[in-house]
Amino acid sequence: MKLPERVTLVEVGPRDGLQNEPQTIPLAAKLQLIDDLASAGHTVIEAGSFVNPKWIPQMADSEAVFAGITRRAGVRYTALTPNLRGFERAVAAGADEVAIFAAASEAFSQKNINCSIAESLQRFTEVMSAAKAHNIPVRGYVSCVLGCPYEGDIPPAAVAAVTGELLDMGCYEVSLGDTIGSGTAGSMQGLLDVLLARFKPAQLAVHCHDTYGQALSNILVALQNGIATVDSSVAGLGGCPYARGASGNVATEDVVYMLNGLGIETGLDLPALIRAGNRICGALGRRTGSRAATALDLKSA
Ligand code: HMG
Ligand code: MG
Repeated sequence: MKLPERVTLVEVGPRDGLQNEPQTIPLAAKLQLIDDLASAGHTVIEAGSFVNPKWIPQMADSEAVFAGITRRAGVRYTALTPNLRGFERAVAAGADEVAIFAAASEAFSQKNINCSIAESLQRFTEVMSAAKAHNIPVRGYVSCVLGCPYEGDIPPAAVAAVTGELLDMGCYEVSLGDTIGSGTAGSMQGLLDVLLARFKPAQLAVHCHDTYGQALSNILVALQNGIATVDSSVAGLGGCPYARGASGNVATEDVVYMLNGLGIETGLDLPALIRAGNRICGALGRRTGSRAATALDLKSA
């Protein structure tokens, strides 16, 4: 299939990236990151989450993050919401859009959101009705689409079932989470063969963690199947607190480098992204996880 001419990158670094940093991150560093990402051309930035702060302390200041954002026209600042309480917090904080998150694995659902898949879908219908009343778009996530840290292989049919439930309840798009990054080009194609028999590429996005170094090839397979929305995290920040050993999302800089090479439009400025990644890595005292940023920095040094 022809590759998409344009791809939207959903920047999840401020949420998926920072939620897993062991240290406390100053509010000012978060706000700087979000502003840097917007000025690099991002139009969708997942800025925080409204979850139980006892579980994810790094996101406890999401109200302050939303209050402090210097909003730019054309940018959607979004948030993860696990239940009605989270949705109400997100609306009060001024989130433009929310995301609900389910899993294709029962064990991961229990560990991550402390309930079964069926119970989570029930909670999400409440969020969905409230979102409709507030006219707030809702994105869905399905975790563990290509493997679970507790259950191992996950059948594509299980992913299709949860994806269908989320779309049926009104999510405008479902992001397919390879939470532990264990998928390969082969298993991604196998999953998409099943999903695309039922859903349109425009209803799907991919969210690839890069634990096994497979994210870029898995994303390329998704593009070849017509999917044109890709989640990524600047500098490859992050991991998942409920998936031990999982590394961050694919680095935004690396995805943009690949898409530039394919002649696919993203609206993103690679040098500006690299500066954004370097600045947050400086604040966190860690090295970038982006191979492209490392190579380009070395070239210009
Ligand atoms: P719970 O602790 O299981 O139980 O929370 P609860 O519902 O009975 O609530 C217990 C306490 O949490 C109560 O407070 C509630 O008020 C409070 P207490 O009486 O103990 O003081 N509470 C809340 N507080 C603030 N905001 C809320 C909220 N809801 C309840 N919204 C819950 C259930 C789902 C809330 C909990 O399990 C939770 O917060 N889980 C979040 C887990 C999380 O954020 N995981 C990481 C994000 S998912 C991810 O990274 C995957 C993704 O990137 C895709 C991929 O890679 O696959 C999206
Ligand atoms: Mg994730």
